[in-house]
Amino acid sequence: MISLEKPSHPLKGDVFVPGDKSISHRSIMFGALAEGTTEITGFLESADCLSTIDCFKKLGIIIDHTVKPTNGVPKITVHGRGLHGLKASASTLYTGNSGTTTRLMSGILVAQPFDSNITGDSSIEKRPMSRIIKPLSQMGADISSVMGNDCAPLHIGGGCKLRGINYRNPIASAQVKSAILLAGLYADGETVVYEPALSRNHSEIMLASFGADVHNEIARDGSAAAILHPGMPLHGIKINVPGDISSAAYFIAAALMVPGSELLIRNVGVNKTRSGILTVLKQMGADITLLNMNESGEPRADILVKYSELHGNQNNKFEIGGKDIPTMIDELPMVAVLAATANCDTIIKDAAELKVKESDRIATVVENLTAMGADIEATDDGMIIHGGKPLHGADINTHNDHRLAMCFAIAALSADGITRILDDACVGISYPTFFTDLQRLL
Ligand code: S3P
Repeated sequence: MISLEKPSHPLKGDVFVPGDKSISHRSIMFGALAEGTTEITGFLESADCLSTIDCFKKLGIIIDHTVKPTNGVPKITVHGRGLHGLKASASTLYTGNSGTTTRLMSGILVAQPFDSNITGDSSIEKRPMSRIIKPLSQMGADISSVMGNDCAPLHIGGGCKLRGINYRNPIASAQVKSAILLAGLYADGETVVYEPALSRNHSEIMLASFGADVHNEIARDGSAAAILHPGMPLHGIKINVPGDISSAAYFIAAALMVPGSELLIRNVGVNKTRSGILTVLKQMGADITLLNMNESGEPRADILVKYSELHGNQNNKFEIGGKDIPTMIDELPMVAVLAATANCDTIIKDAAELKVKESDRIATVVENLTAMGADIEATDDGMIIHGGKPLHGADINTHNDHRLAMCFAIAALSADGITRILDDACVGISYPTFFTDLQRLL
């Protein structure tokens, strides 16, 4: 348990957040399928990404962890075995709390000549897998939920011939899109995934730099398409993972909430499919500037944030929905906390996906913000926050959800009295050094 309260001074200085979780997972998986070695710096060594490493080691991939003697920088080397080099795992592949590992790895395993079994922790065993079972089955895969409840454990039968499909996903989900594209690497023809809005496109960017023939397009009806043609071998590359904008979001919020603060968050990934939080907060009056922008590959920048009073539009309302939602899906709990401190009503809509994350984030955010004195109501596809009521300290039930633990640690910085984060250890899922990095500023 960790106790936090309002700091006695503004937050000032530079912050370095750890590597991007989505990009780190993909660097291991795609490196495993490539010929030759892939060298990764900036890799996120959190429980989720270590689950991916563990699974690919079980699939016969050698993965080394070294520290460069010249500069002390940790480096992960993946000794890829090519698209057809994986070996059957002797035991069930355990993905811990990681939806990305479970879903993307399934897309790879359906194309292998051997059978596989996959499961994860109690949260993973409740998360919907029909969203990958349906399209992968359409491609000819043999994948099923062992308990028949559309959740993990999953059984995957090997030796299936896959066909390319045109798949219209009703929701924007990078995990679903990536699982289909990865299976598409082994299919007999073109694979196209359409989404109502472009979800994070790290798979497309990274697969293309490994040599795959894949790109994004806006379709005639306005939907976002990812198009992959199989047949190209993947070749090992060097990857430098930028800082994770989902982790930077906690420090952005902290600077916006504590009067007089000014933080410079260094080397953060600002891919447009991930940086919706910056656009939305700027519209609410946040003083945020991007410095040292580098657009090659995955765009990255330093983010300068200064304390700001957030507000709505003329009617003192602010609405967040539509195509902005997939670009900030993991940051919505933090945005809800910020909205509770803003002098306006904020409506978050089109975000029903929050219900099927590591916890039901509509219910768990509303529960904990209510405990802190906020005026907030849950809706079917989001929440309505009547901002401006002063927050007070409370005991936070994280439901073992890493993002809840971190966003309520930040909420504590603008609340009267003491806030206790119960089960704080779950931050290890995406950001093991979060509390030490935060304490340094307090
Ligand atoms: C992720 C995609 C998103 C996101 C998750 C990571 C990824 O999930 O919420 O934290 O790495 O592809 P969905 O695909 O379910 O939207």
